[in-house]
Amino acid sequence: MRPEAYRAIPAMPGALPVLGHLHHFARDPLGFFTQMREQGDVVRWRLGPQRNVFISNPADIAATLLNVEKTFSRGDDHGYAFELFAGNGIIVTHGDFWRRQRKMMQPAMRPQRVAGYADTMVELTDHMLDGWRDGQRRDIRADMLGLTQKIAARTLFGADVTGDAAAVGQALDIASREIGAEFRGITMFLPPWLATPGRRRLKAAIAEVESVLYRIIDERRTTHPDGRPDDLLALLMDARDDEGRPMSDTQLRDETMSLYIAGHETTGNTLVWAYLLLSRHPEARERMAAEITDVVGDRLPVMDDHRSLPYTEAVVKETLRLYPPAWLLPVRATIDVEIAGHQIHTGTDVWMSQWATHRDPRWFTHPEEFRPERFLGEAARTIPKFAWFPFGGGPHVCLGSRFALVEAVLILATIAQRFHLHIDPALDLPPRPLLTLHPGRDVPARVVHTPAHLTPTRASR
Ligand code: HEM
Repeated sequence: MRPEAYRAIPAMPGALPVLGHLHHFARDPLGFFTQMREQGDVVRWRLGPQRNVFISNPADIAATLLNVEKTFSRGDDHGYAFELFAGNGIIVTHGDFWRRQRKMMQPAMRPQRVAGYADTMVELTDHMLDGWRDGQRRDIRADMLGLTQKIAARTLFGADVTGDAAAVGQALDIASREIGAEFRGITMFLPPWLATPGRRRLKAAIAEVESVLYRIIDERRTTHPDGRPDDLLALLMDARDDEGRPMSDTQLRDETMSLYIAGHETTGNTLVWAYLLLSRHPEARERMAAEITDVVGDRLPVMDDHRSLPYTEAVVKETLRLYPPAWLLPVRATIDVEIAGHQIHTGTDVWMSQWATHRDPRWFTHPEEFRPERFLGEAARTIPKFAWFPFGGGPHVCLGSRFALVEAVLILATIAQRFHLHIDPALDLPPRPLLTLHPGRDVPARVVHTPAHLTPTRASR
């Protein structure tokens, strides 16, 4: 297309000299993205000198994400804390190096592999429930994040981390918190050499995890010459690239850290939001509980149940629509490209927001309402592609999407057999958009035993 044939991109009002829209973005990013969506499908805005474009139409999102690695890249700047943690891991790299890693890691997330992790998910959930008492008040945010963190650690490192579980768990927790605090905070703009107290804590936490991780890798090389444990680390250690080369120890460290950071907080927060929504919609909670009783009865859930629990999965998908853990997705144009008749220049950052598109009334009727039925049968087929994209899309699509869906469904099912969770439906819980979309505070819930016909068998185990 000739340059003069391109349509001008409407600008988002309210830019300040020098800062651009930084003030608005930093103060209320969810509101800011929603307002940009209301301005049009393609809107330009500025973060300081950086030229940005915001897109919200699913067709444009599809065209953009499907072309990442051809005309877009995920960029090189992911923030000091994130890069320190993930190193050269799959979640921060692109180009040939990323392609090699993705190819080597993909087999670890194949359906039959995920099936192997299902038992761990159920076992650790059931173990958590052993500590719950009828009528008790609990902080569900701490419970869900603790649970998904344990599942991530166990599926990644198997039993080898058990002896160090407390120290590693604590260190990983500190690391997650510090990364979250730096993200969108003022420290994000500080030079990497400046050692703030938060950065010092982060470094110490990473050093702690690394020492355990390198020791496990080393032990496995010497004491498990064959027949290694069946966990993600073992699969990554066995993986070979096209030239038959394994990953270096540093790369193994970067990839396990990447899987950990990508995997646990996202699913943990999804479960918290799901329980809040279910408490506000008792009819949905009852329908889900009835489905679980029908399918699973009083035995522990297993992988195959996942396929027979469509309503429970719809609850998870609808939660991911309303509270997408990954709430924004920026990519950078590596050449001049066209989006919806507009010219996007090389170096422009193109931003997409799951939060804004998932709540667009053009794609979802009554978008603010919790309606899991949207994801069932014929209704699900009417949702335009990429109107729902909690896991991104294209070549970089979330490697753990199946893992996450299975995990969330099996945790909901395992808990529902033994307990109902009651959160005050009026609880004010504005989402905090950090690295993932957080419930901004503790989430008190009363846990109550499910009807007696389910509990005796499980309780007597
Ligand atoms: C509800 C849970 C989760 C959500 C919402 C989520 C979301 C995402 C999103 C939006 C991306 C970026 C996709 C893109 O750039 O197009 C991503 C990438 C990734 N996710 Fe997830 N994720 C979740 C759980 C997991 C889990 C459990 C794992 C691993 C066990 C995982 C591993 C990864 C990896 C490795 C990538 C990088 C893929 C690549 O660049 O090739 N995620 N995820």
